[in-house]
Amino acid sequence: MKKLIIFASGSGSNAENIITYFNSGNLAKVSLVLTNKADAKVLQRCERLNIPAFYFNKSAFQSGTLLGMLNNENPDLILLAGFLWKIPSGFIEAFPYKIINIHPALLPKYGGKGMYGNRVHEAVRANSEKETGITIHYVNEHYDEGGIIHQEKVTLTSEDSVENIASKVHELEYEHYPKVIEKLLMDDD
Ligand code: GRF
Repeated sequence: MKKLIIFASGSGSNAENIITYFNSGNLAKVSLVLTNKADAKVLQRCERLNIPAFYFNKSAFQSGTLLGMLNNENPDLILLAGFLWKIPSGFIEAFPYKIINIHPALLPKYGGKGMYGNRVHEAVRANSEKETGITIHYVNEHYDEGGIIHQEKVTLTSEDSVENIASKVHELEYEHYPKVIEKLLMDDD
């Protein structure tokens, strides 16, 4: 059974979707969820789903304490799902091509520091984009710049509000993030 660890900073709807998806099969399980926000909703979701989940602070993140924990867990993949801190280079060196992020737009557009959540969708709308989508990519030392693994697009109209755009993008995330993870795990065999 492959082991997945998720990092999330907020609501955690993608985390829940990934947990549920892999709970129904025998390929992999989410063994741990980690958050940098003590009151993140993802903690409540994990309690309900019976998945171990922990909060960590910046010093644990930067000092190597958390990296030590990850090394002990030895996950097959580390999944970022709405995680807002930049991943330290030590993590990337310890887990090459094993840390994956999902970004709610078609990178390289609308990425980088500060581009998260509705800020992304607001910028997409302000530019009257005809399409947006999701990008699943490897994580490197720079925000949203690692090699792209998979993208999916959705059409937008001038009627689409920021909320509509967010909901179209979430639909793509829920459908494709678990499947892309599954494929990476199977290709790894
Ligand atoms: C998602 O749109 C994800 O792409 C982005 O942050 C959002 C997290 O949503 N990186 P949730 O916490 O999974 O509900």
